[in-house]
Amino acid sequence: MKGITIDQARDHIGEGITLRGWLYNKRSSGKILFLQIRDGTGTIQGVITEPEKPDLFSRAEGLARETSLIVTGRLREEVRAPSGCELEVDEISVVHEPTDPFPIELKEQTPGFLMDHRHLWIRTGRQVPILRIRDAVFRAFREFFHERGFVATEAPIITGTSVEGTTTLFSLDYFGEPAYLSQSGQLYLEATAMALGKVYWIGPVFRAEKSKTRKHVTEFWMGEAEMAYFDHNANLNLQEDLVSHIVDAVTKERRDELGRLDRDVDRLREEVKGPFPRLDYAEAVKILQDEGHEISFGDDLGAPEETSLGERFGKPVFVERFPISMKPFYMKRDGKDPTRVLAADLIAPDGYGEIIGGSQRVDTVEELVSQLKERGLPLEPYEWYIDLRRYGSAPHSGFGMGLARVIAWICGVPHIREVIPFPRQIHRLYP
Ligand code: 4AD
Ligand code: MG
Repeated sequence: MKGITIDQARDHIGEGITLRGWLYNKRSSGKILFLQIRDGTGTIQGVITEPEKPDLFSRAEGLARETSLIVTGRLREEVRAPSGCELEVDEISVVHEPTDPFPIELKEQTPGFLMDHRHLWIRTGRQVPILRIRDAVFRAFREFFHERGFVATEAPIITGTSVEGTTTLFSLDYFGEPAYLSQSGQLYLEATAMALGKVYWIGPVFRAEKSKTRKHVTEFWMGEAEMAYFDHNANLNLQEDLVSHIVDAVTKERRDELGRLDRDVDRLREEVKGPFPRLDYAEAVKILQDEGHEISFGDDLGAPEETSLGERFGKPVFVERFPISMKPFYMKRDGKDPTRVLAADLIAPDGYGEIIGGSQRVDTVEELVSQLKERGLPLEPYEWYIDLRRYGSAPHSGFGMGLARVIAWICGVPHIREVIPFPRQIHRLYP
């Protein structure tokens, strides 16, 4: 019998097939037994009627949830099923019977319990579609840059310097020398961009951040790009195209999964039609003050402010040209107003917060050294980075996208911990 996966079932209606998977759930209605079978690509309903197959019926009735099994049968059309068909089961071969009842029940359970059982939780309900959407987002990100002639590259994870300030560094002992887990690959991508022109990567980054919000984790995968000869506006244009491409590709490829999450796909596609508004930071503060927010010039936008901007525009919004004191040392000053930097944050709609942070970079030795000194940072560990301004410096720009936030927004799930296979939070190191 032909072995297929559940996502291929639609194309085999009327045929005999074999599936390899697990028993997700079962229910009976008198003399009919309905088996929910899952295999990672989807779930399908298997049907066994007692009068027709009494032996199979009584064996299947005793199967526990999460039994590993190989099922053979014939597919028939069932328009009401998400897979478009169901399976008339002829044969079940049990590969493994669980030794204990499966702890995740298919009803409301507390987040703490689910997080403690994350290794099993990922098999159930919304988790499989979310992780399949995550895969599609990573792929769409890479595809976007590959198609535009960018070179994929890597940055180290163990570093000797900070990028995003010294307060959120995880430190470690590197053979007697202080070292840190990377907060961002940016500084290294700047070096690589001067070698290769336009580069990107997706890499793990770490923030020893004590923030306990629905948008913060201590370890996450950042998608970053760095481009030689790109100015601030070219940088924002690229980010806009990237966000539109990701949403377009993922909503096409993972429509079924988004449907299982009850995400309004048409609304999402509408939201990412460019251009995205570009608000000067001062203008954003003014708008928010007029709406009654207690924010002053120089303050970061908090969650309520970000949510307001999202509601007002109904699409992602750039906030640009921040006061220099709010941002890290590497951002280039605005020629028109040297108290501001050529940076922008992209705020997603629906309260998902900042999904991209980026800027044009400082490109002279003088400006960089003065920025480092002003922030009390030592020059020595950054000598290699200063070198990039000594030899063949060029205007360049780049950005970093928090992929977990993008995935949470696309999925419409409230907390980013649900879109990461094994999230790391302040109080979470297990499993
Ligand atoms: O704004 P951030 O800190 O920017 C950088 O690290 C730059 N060096 C990137 C660059 O220009 N190459 O981080 C980038 C993005 C944020 O916009 C946000 O989406 C996400 O990373 N992010 C987090 N996501 C989850 N948990 C956290 N604790 C995050 N901190 C930042
Ligand atoms: Mg930021």
